Amino acid sequence: MKKLLVASIACCFFASAAYAEIRTVGRGEQLRFDTSSYPADMKKNNEVFRLNCTKCHSEQRVVMAYLTGTLSYARQPFDMDTMQRVIFTMYRKTSGNGALAIPRSHMKNISAYMKYLMMESSR
Ligand code: HEC
Repeated sequence: MKKLLVASIACCFFASAAYAEIRTVGRGEQLRFDTSSYPADMKKNNEVFRLNCTKCHSEQRVVMAYLTGTLSYARQPFDMDTMQRVIFTMYRKTSGNGALAIPRSHMKNISAYMKYLMMESSR
């Protein structure tokens, strides 16, 4: 019984990593990530993300990168590598920029969040 349970948990984990999709709410400029099924820590990370990453552009821009698997400005595929680069580029854009500046401590939450979404969308 115990073995079966472990097997089924492992199965669910892989299934969700491989096939889950990015869920969204709203449309157009209001398009946002649907956080309703997130674990608690990712709900918190999403709040830190929203606080810092929607000051210059809407959340839609980030959602679209996940939905399309493409960075439309950089004209590159959106994957783990280019994701790290985007996060760093955005951090650099804001550093020393007053109200836009992203505190270093928040970068950890944002990176964890973006990575979580990348695994959920798993391209
Ligand atoms: C200082 C304003 C500013 C902040 C704050 C900001 N961005 Fe951006 N973002 C931009 C601009 C401007 C672009 C357009 C592309 C470029 O200039 O690199 C962009 C583009 C993007 C793109 C699309 C890139 C592409 O090549 O299509 C993503 C994804 C993104 N931002 C994510 C984020 C994330 C995640 C954060 C928070 C860590 C964030 N942004 C915070 C200004 C900002």
